[in-house]
Amino acid sequence: MSEKEIKILAIESSCDETAAAVVVNGRDVRSNTISTQIPLHTLYGGVVPEIASRKHTERINQVIATALEEAGETLDDMDAIAVTYGPGLVGALLVGVAEAKAIAFAKHLPLIGVHHIEGHISANYIENKELEPPFLCLVVSGGHTHLVRVKDYGDYEILGRTVDDAAGEAFDKVARAIGLGYPGGPKIEKKALEGDANAIPFPKAKVADHPYDFSFSGLKSAVLNYINGAKMKGEEVNEADIAASFQKAVVDALVDHAMMAVDEFGCDKFAIAGGVASNGAFREAMRAACEKKGVKFYHPSPILCTDNAAMIGAAGYYDYLNGRRDGWDLNAVPNLKLGER
Ligand code: KG4
Ligand code: ZN
Repeated sequence: MSEKEIKILAIESSCDETAAAVVVNGRDVRSNTISTQIPLHTLYGGVVPEIASRKHTERINQVIATALEEAGETLDDMDAIAVTYGPGLVGALLVGVAEAKAIAFAKHLPLIGVHHIEGHISANYIENKELEPPFLCLVVSGGHTHLVRVKDYGDYEILGRTVDDAAGEAFDKVARAIGLGYPGGPKIEKKALEGDANAIPFPKAKVADHPYDFSFSGLKSAVLNYINGAKMKGEEVNEADIAASFQKAVVDALVDHAMMAVDEFGCDKFAIAGGVASNGAFREAMRAACEKKGVKFYHPSPILCTDNAAMIGAAGYYDYLNGRRDGWDLNAVPNLKLGER
């Protein structure tokens, strides 16, 4: 008996990417259209919320039309509409939510609000068809650093999170400090290739009494102090060494936390997700640490690490199977917590 195909049109607009995708049965991505606003926000050194909302409004219809066309589908072929409704920038989220509601209402389709972090985690299902919960996942992006126990589809336990800056945010701030520009992650990664990761011993912050939590603002301050100290002494700084040493400090902290969770929960699968998960040094360090412990390591391709709608379609499918449906009162929730409904 062949499985019925559930086709989901997914929409993502929580930050600076306007995205739509057609995903079949959660793991088969028929199209994944992303219109990035990064060049626009680069002018200002970071995301400007008002500009993000306006650009989402201008682009969303075309992005959806392209996603449907590339998939060879029409709205009439869809079984549900999934949309990111939080967390994120409220004005940006609202554009996607309003669009999804309008389409679902007009086409009499079920509407499913998806948590953005659940989307990032679910990006791992797309290229790893065999991956199923339970597993551990480290979600590292510009807005989040969460160590999560994925107990089942839609069932999450947050073991730890950042108490200050997110890992990606630290990359962005340090990149700005050494004049590399926005977004910092890919630029630091490239610069770090020319540097010595052991040149500067930056601190690996721990959070007292909360071993699974992260703190990156101390590390960021240590980098800024190092730069200012050198300036005051009239010394040249080696940007490549700063980038490599900073990246190593972040990666070491992430890997340490991840392996602590592996030891405590004895899980044999570990996945990473979010923009920072596209970092090569981080992937390699995780791969090596997982291999040592006999843990299978998963990560999405870079295009599925940063914001996209395919991951929202993957998460939306399991929400759909779990019977989750939203009403016409679905609203954007900028500080939505994982597992909250
Ligand atoms: O997942 P994402 O696109 O958006 C959020 O949900 O936040 O992540 C964007 C973040 C930015 O902070 C960016 O600097 C970081 O991910 N990032 C990276 C890399 N590529 C993107 N950080 C480190 N290395 C990279 N290669
Ligand atoms: Zn994201």
